[in-house]
Amino acid sequence: MKVVAFNGSPRQNGNTAFMLKTVLEVLSEAGWETELVQVGGVPVRGCKACYRCFKNANARCVITSDPINDWIAQAEKADAILLGSPSYFGTIASEIKAFIDRLGLASYSVNKELLRGKIGAAVVAQRRGGAINVFDNLNHFFLCLGMIVPGSSYWNFGVGRLPEEVKEDQEAMANMRHLGQAIHWLGERVKSAPTPYPLPPTVT
Ligand SMILES: Cc1cc2nc3c(=O)[nH]c(=O)nc-3n(C[C@H](O)[C@H](O)[C@H](O)COP(=O)(O)O)c2cc1C
Repeated sequence: MKVVAFNGSPRQNGNTAFMLKTVLEVLSEAGWETELVQVGGVPVRGCKACYRCFKNANARCVITSDPINDWIAQAEKADAILLGSPSYFGTIASEIKAFIDRLGLASYSVNKELLRGKIGAAVVAQRRGGAINVFDNLNHFFLCLGMIVPGSSYWNFGVGRLPEEVKEDQEAMANMRHLGQAIHWLGERVKSAPTPYPLPPTVT
């Protein structure tokens, strides 16, 4: 099984990355193929609401000047995706927001088949506030697209300001390891499910 973690922080070795790597380590030890993709700090465009992905119905964005279609392809191949973001003024960081808007609409263009039935988990870093809002936003994305979200021992966020300071937040780090175990447990069951995840209703 494969998991891809998208790091929405522009700090490649910051707190979000540290927590994502902790989840990936647990999954790697359990035999998963793991990948970490740097999203934060990469120049990407937001969705331009042209809806040409709907017309093309090919699960890809018509904007090809940035790597978002590559990331969409990586998400498509994965059994589980992690979306990580720091709390920036209490909301999601810019590049990961651009990514989820374009990934989400591309997924809608094919009746949500792109991500339906895959596992999704959010990981958030904050210095002091806003993480729960970012966590909720990312979970709204997963749940809207027919993804399956595992619970862990707390909400998946950690506290820190300077890069890797979050390693001192022991409860958060224990939660990240537990999240890895929960994804593995769920992944095994999803893989052996006798029937595929149900199709969404047709909306007219
Ligand atoms: C533009 C900007 C806005 C921020 N806004 C918040 C905020 O609203 N709440 C908070 O707790 N921390 C805020 N922070 C601090 C980061 O969330 C915190 O340092 C976090 O650990 C960064 O994660 P990273 O190391 O993965 O980049 C902000 C940082 C930046 C650069």
